[in-house]
Formats: sequence, C-alpha cells, structure tokens
Amino acid sequence: MRFPGALGSLLSLAGLTSVALADLRIAADNHSFGGVNFPQLQFLEPSYREEVIRAIVKTNARVIRLFIRGDEHHGDPEPEVGEFDRALLNQFDDTLAAIHRISEGKTKVIIAPHDAHALRGSNNVPCDGYCKKLDGAFLDFYSQEEYRTYYKTRLEVFFRHYASKNFGGRPWSELSEVILGVDVQNEPWSGIWPIPAGEAWLCDIATHLKDVIGLGDNNIAVITGGISGPQTVDGIQNTPDSAWNCPAVDVIGIHGYFAQGEEETAGTPWTKMFLPGNTLTGRATDKKLLLVEEWSYMNTDLGLNYKKQAIFDQGNALNYRGIPWIYSHLTFKDEGTSPKISITRESNYAIGALSDVLTRASRSRSNFNWSKYLPAPSGGLSNLTTLPLNLYIPEQASCTFGCEGHLCDAADGCRPSLICKNSICQQPSDSQPGKIGDACNSKKPCLSHLKCASGSCQTCNARATIQPWDRRPDNSYNSHNPFRRDPIAANSPAAQCHPDTANAFLVPPRPICSSPASRENPCTNAQHCNADQYCDWGLCKACTEGCLGMKCRSNNKCKTGFCNTHGRCDYAGQKKVLAGPGGQGRSTTRNRKGAGYNLGAPKGQGSGPNKVWDVPMKVNIPKEEVVATGAATA
Ligand SMILES: *[C@@H]1O[C@H](CO)[C@@H](O)[C@H](O)[C@H]1NC(C)=O
Ligand SMILES: *[C@@H]1O[C@H](CO)[C@@H](O)[C@H](O)[C@H]1NC(C)=O
Ligand SMILES: *[C@@H]1O[C@H](CO)[C@@H](O)[C@H](O)[C@H]1NC(C)=O
Repeated sequence: MRFPGALGSLLSLAGLTSVALADLRIAADNHSFGGVNFPQLQFLEPSYREEVIRAIVKTNARVIRLFIRGDEHHGDPEPEVGEFDRALLNQFDDTLAAIHRISEGKTKVIIAPHDAHALRGSNNVPCDGYCKKLDGAFLDFYSQEEYRTYYKTRLEVFFRHYASKNFGGRPWSELSEVILGVDVQNEPWSGIWPIPAGEAWLCDIATHLKDVIGLGDNNIAVITGGISGPQTVDGIQNTPDSAWNCPAVDVIGIHGYFAQGEEETAGTPWTKMFLPGNTLTGRATDKKLLLVEEWSYMNTDLGLNYKKQAIFDQGNALNYRGIPWIYSHLTFKDEGTSPKISITRESNYAIGALSDVLTRASRSRSNFNWSKYLPAPSGGLSNLTTLPLNLYIPEQASCTFGCEGHLCDAADGCRPSLICKNSICQQPSDSQPGKIGDACNSKKPCLSHLKCASGSCQTCNARATIQPWDRRPDNSYNSHNPFRRDPIAANSPAAQCHPDTANAFLVPPRPICSSPASRENPCTNAQHCNADQYCDWGLCKACTEGCLGMKCRSNNKCKTGFCNTHGRCDYAGQKKVLAGPGGQGRSTTRNRKGAGYNLGAPKGQGSGPNKVWDVPMKVNIPKEEVVATGAATA
C-alpha cells in the first residue's frame, strides 16, 4: 500500500540543482574508488580463484583487501612465532599475480599482514602462534618489546625476505604495481577503546613498515587498519592522536557497521561522519588520507528484502562524500542474514547493488588525492549534478523518497516539513527560523521551499510523479489515493514530475514547494545553514573564507564561530570526545554488554589519573560479534 508520506519524484529538477547551493557536492577532480574485502581468497583452488577474481574485476572494484591469517582449514604462514611456511606465502603471491594479470593492473590489493582477532581466537579467526604464546594476555602483543620484535620480524619476512615467485624474485615491499597499501594490523586493540596499553606500538610499527621495510620509498601506503575496531559517528575509535601525529601513517583506515534505522538509512551515519570540513575531514585535509576499509550490510527486523537498499545507501553516501571504501566482505558461500555478499550470484542479488555502487565509486570525485597509490581509471569523472536515486528500495517500503534521514541534494528534495541540511533530510531544529507555521514578512522569510502567505509560512506539496493514468492535471483520480499503488515509484529513474503549474490535481490544494534555486534559508547562526555556508544577516550564504574545515588561528576568523584545537574552523558546540587513557574507559559497541578490557585489573587501575596502563595485563574479553555501531546513535 502506498502511504501518503511517499512523495512524488523530483527528477525533472535535475537541471536546477546545479545552481543550488544546498548539495555540498564535491567539485575536485580527484578520483574516489571502491573495493571489496575477501579474507580467504588465497585459499581457493587456483582455477576457481581466478574465476572469482574475474567476477570481482567485472564489478569495477579497484581494490581487494586480503588478510594473511589462517582459517579453520588453513594455517597462518607463521605457525609458530618465528617460523614461516613458504608454501603459504607462495599461495598468497599467486593470488597477487592473478589479480594483477586478470585486472590488467587496474585492481590492486591492500594487505592486512596480521589480524588482531587471531591474538585471542575471536571473530571466527583461529588462535595463532602469537595467541598461544600470549596465553590470553593479548595486550602484551602491543606493550611488550619482545612481541614487537617478533612482529617486526614477521613483517620483514613477508615484505623483504620473501622473494616473489611471480614477480621476478622481488620483495613484496617493492610491488607497488599490485599492492596499494599495508595495514599495520587488522583492527589493533580490536573492540577496546580507549587504547589501554602499548599505544606507541602503532607508530613504531607504521615507521617500521614505511622506513625500515621501505614501503615509503615504493609509494605503498601505510594504513592504520581500523584501530580499536568499529567507529561510531562522532567517535574517534579509529582516529586517535597517535595515528594523526605519526608521520609514517599515510592512510587512516575506518571501520564501521551501520544498520538501517527508522529515521535514517544505513548510509546516513556515513554522510554525517564525512561532512566536508567537519572535525574529522578538516583535520585530514593535506595531512592524511581517509579510507573506509570495512563496512557492511547489517540485518534488521526489516529483513533481507532491504539488503540491497542498505548496500546502495552506504556506498552511495560514501561516493557522495568522496571517501573511498571497501565492502566487508565477499564470499563464495551462502549469505544467509550475514553481511556477506556472494560474488557468484546473479545481479538481482546483493552483488548487483554492490557492483552498481562500485562502478559509481570509480567515477566519483574526492577532495583527497589518491593518485600516488592508485592511478585514475580511464573512464573519467562523474558530473555529480544530482545525488543518484536508490533504485533498490523495495516496493513495500513505507517511503522511497525524501523522508527523514534520506540523502538529499536540494532544498525540495525532502518532505515539505523537513529541511535538506548537510545532504540529509531532517527535522528543522526548534530554533530554525521560517518553519511551517512560523510568522513571516518581507524581512522574516520562510525556509526556501516554503511561501509566506497571510503572515505565516505555508506548507506545500511536493511535485508528484506523473502516472500513466493521470497525465492530465485535472484528473481527480490522483496519486494521493492511499488505496492505489502507483505503477511508477518515486525512486524510478524513468519517472517524470508534474510541472509546478499543474497543482489542481493535488488534494488538498496547496502551492507546490518552491524550486531550490530561488533563494537560501533564513538563519540566526551558522548551524541553521549547510556546512559550506555561513549566516549572513539572517540568510545562509555560500562561504568563501573562514569556512568549515579551513585553517584558523582564532574563533573570530571563523564564520562558523569556532576554531578547533586542530587549527580548523568547526561548528561550535561539538560534543566533547573523551580521548586517551584519561577518558571514560568504555569498550566500543562490539562488546557493549559491559565487560571492559580491565576486567581483572586491580581496583583503581581502570581509570583516572593513577591508572597503570603499560603493564602486562591478563584480560578476559567475551567473544566478539559484529554489532551495528550505529545503534548507539540511532
Ligand atoms: C585533489 O586533492 C588535493 C588534496 O590531496 C587537493 O589539494 C587538490 O585541489 C585536489 N585536486 C583538484 C583538482 O581539486
Ligand atoms: C594528485 O597528486 C599528483 C602528485 O602526487 C599530481 O600529479 C596530480 O596532478 C594530483 N591530481 C589532482 C587531480 O590534483
Ligand atoms: C559533464 O557535463 C558537461 C556539461 O554539463 C558535459 O560537457 C560533460 O561531457 C559532462 N562530463 C561527463 C563526464 O559526463
């Protein structure tokens, strides 16, 4: 059944949005990209592995993230600490060679040379040689010099001593034609935040990879690998100061698991996290590259019919923000309700939606220049005049367009009662001037899509989609009959809207919402405006200096009102994030049920200024499961 809330499509406005300022679209000529995680790819039988790689290359994935670790049927190449199995390295090398050959050099890999989950046998990763030696005290891996030395040896064996079977005996550290980057580890301190012990490990290992092993000389990126596990929208789990301040870190890897919610799509948290110029992206400008190394579909009560929608929403949001991403993860087995996507299925399954956003990613624009690590593809850049519509929203969904939490690129891309702010349809805040019902006059305008009549801001009707049976505007059998399902859905790319003049058919009769180009929203401060605007005498205006994300020395130089501690203009009133060992010791949502890392630590060591962190600790952490990181903020 079609709900009255489902809006008509506004596709005929595509041309107008190019002059609207409400979209925050990225105009830089740098390429973004998308890719896939495939943790056990190397273990596949070679001819089947090639078939799988061919299928991956066909999706336009530009990166495959591979893990060096064992699984239930295969060992780690370092079965005992300090002993290495050449056969497993040859097998991995064969996989690199196949990817390079089949993709003709267009697809590269990111290598996670170790997985923190192997240190405690969690997340279905078997307990490896390090894990057995650590015997539960896995934080010693980071804080004890002995383990650092072992781990550096592992990295040296993999990236310097091993002579590539397929690449003329060269060490992997030189294979920039196929290796884009190397993680320091997958999810160091996984599930534990703030970092309780051995934080210096991060820069020590990054420096070892970059300078001693020589990745830096070969233009292979050093990546943080998702520190402390999944990131929350306003969190800094993956972005501690130790990563920003380490010169050897090239790329900050971000992992996050967001589920579709009632008032947000699965992509909405990403849209918020990477708002151009916010604390995170502003800080990264000219300093580090940002990469979403892991994101997934998270199953919800809505069920699997919404899997494709959630995949497209997330990829689309990241493409719109120009942040490269890697889906977690592909499989050749069944998907079930898991985040996994089977690469061998037909395109009407989840892989179809993933291929679609992967292809779009390869043409998306980014404010960040990755060309040192991944050359631009031949296909050129998209114009990004409009936000691509999500064609995978299922027919039975209560809303296909313009609802709260949906992405938008223009002032009338949302329900009339909402505003399109920072690319998200949202309820205007109480202090927002010009809302429906607010008093208005020539000096006090309404929100840009609303009209002022009889002294108050009037509600309006969105343009409805033209249906085959109501082409004539006076047809009373209109699309607002709640008992009739329209054959053309609002998110259909084939849809056309009724023109503004054709409002007679609408019930109740109301003016059509104003076109987005006419003027900007009223405001009393910068937070009423888009991130790329400031509040200039009561109206939002395009910002050109002292704008969000720009360098600053003091608050009065920022039109956003606030110069943050990283020397960039920022929104005032950002939530203060507790960081470092002095912060509230709280594990991230993966093991939200309580159970801190400091279980078993003597009383008083867990928090406060007197804690003793860099000491060996026996810890006992419950088995991890992937849980949506968005749940806390949804
Ligand atoms: C590409 O990104 C760099 C930042 O790494 C930026 O300085 C540059 O302006 C971007 N290129 C274009 C053409 O916008
Ligand atoms: C990106 O950086 C490279 C140098 O690393 C430079 O040659 C190239 O022009 C830059 N690309 C853009 C689009 O700014
Ligand atoms: C982008 O749009 C311009 C004009 O609007 C057009 O000339 C150009 O070919 C387009 N580029 C792409 C890559 O579609």
